[in-house]
Amino acid sequence: MAERLRRLADALAVPRSELPHLGEAATLPLANADGMIENAIGVLGLPLGVGLNFLVNGEDVLVPMAVEEPSVIAAVSLAAKIAREGGGFFADADEQMLIGQVQLEAIPDRAAAKAAIERASEEILREANALHPAMAARGGGAKRLEVRELSVLDVDGKPEPQLIVHLHVDTQEAMGANLVNTMCEGVAGTLERLSGGRVRLRILSNLADGRLARAKVRIPLEQLADFGYTGPEVAHGIAAASRFADADPYRATTHNKGVMNGIDAVAIATGNDWRAIEAGAHAYCARNGRYEPMTRWWVSEGHLHGSIEIPLQIGTVGGAVKTNPLVVTALRILGNPPAKKLAGIIAAVGLAQNMAALRALGTVGIQKGHMALHARNLAVTAGARGQTIEVVAKALIAAGEIKLHRAQEILARLVREQASAPGTAGVLEAT
Ligand code: MEV
Repeated sequence: MAERLRRLADALAVPRSELPHLGEAATLPLANADGMIENAIGVLGLPLGVGLNFLVNGEDVLVPMAVEEPSVIAAVSLAAKIAREGGGFFADADEQMLIGQVQLEAIPDRAAAKAAIERASEEILREANALHPAMAARGGGAKRLEVRELSVLDVDGKPEPQLIVHLHVDTQEAMGANLVNTMCEGVAGTLERLSGGRVRLRILSNLADGRLARAKVRIPLEQLADFGYTGPEVAHGIAAASRFADADPYRATTHNKGVMNGIDAVAIATGNDWRAIEAGAHAYCARNGRYEPMTRWWVSEGHLHGSIEIPLQIGTVGGAVKTNPLVVTALRILGNPPAKKLAGIIAAVGLAQNMAALRALGTVGIQKGHMALHARNLAVTAGARGQTIEVVAKALIAAGEIKLHRAQEILARLVREQASAPGTAGVLEAT
């Protein structure tokens, strides 16, 4: 790890001291944890790694990822390496728009109420922005108001015509939940007066479809050859897997879980609310009335093409960014990108993570790679260190039984062999 950290600092051209808290046992200080949530009793750790080889919009980027699942970071780094051969990922994101909802019920005249609210929309937006003058001064804030008519069942199961007012708010560098919720609550009184109805819920919508992030990639077929398969065979395996996910929500769900392996890992490392991202991304996948995959892959003109489009509620200020010192370092590793740029990078990571999974699933399956990592983990648990880890892992795979007791037996045999044949000392020197 020390060597990795040295190379990370070199790659970023910063002194090691500018990457604090990496390689240390302590992460989030207890006092911060205590201030963040209620009934705090400790801090739960997650491994933090770095996704390599990413080229996004022509720029190299190192991607911090917090995740407990083995293979995720290795897989995404390999996919990013392959994607480089086609020029890497091209990504972009919308402005940081978030929707706030104010629900109005028991409205005497829905058409008149709608017209009154629409006529007063400038005044309502001004009122909302007065609650966050600094955001408005920076060019953000409430930009647009929309009045939706909706039928909601009442307590007796009868449809009740309601109005749902949407505030479209540019949250700039913030994820924006607090800002939008404050605005919704702040304008509720005015909306009640204008509609003659009663305000019920006043809260943001995590279906942030005004805040989409997109990424695409185009890889020459020959770059995909692996596992004894030709490039076109691998590419067609990926495209066929994509069509399967298109056709079947059972498969689309797992397909999308693979995408979120990458997206959540970066969201967590950068202090973002991954539940909001999850909720929004999955809801967006159901926008056409059935659950669909987040990505699409197809083969044309000698290339494999992939694309992703999902809402990403990302912030680079506020929340855990302020309270978790490791998040500051993670953002530093990314080059402190603005939120829109970070959203594009995260979309690219999701696409790469998905490509890695489909590449294996469409050919040899994922267990081979998983088993190799699992074998290494068992070798370490059995006590192997240094070069011996690989030796024990390979022997485990060759034995076809990837179990801890086998790793212990193999390691014990190696130690015995070394004792009786001093020429093998090199293999075990670091054990
Ligand atoms: C495992 O965490 C993710 C995969 O199941 C994704 C997929 O099936 O596409 C491998």
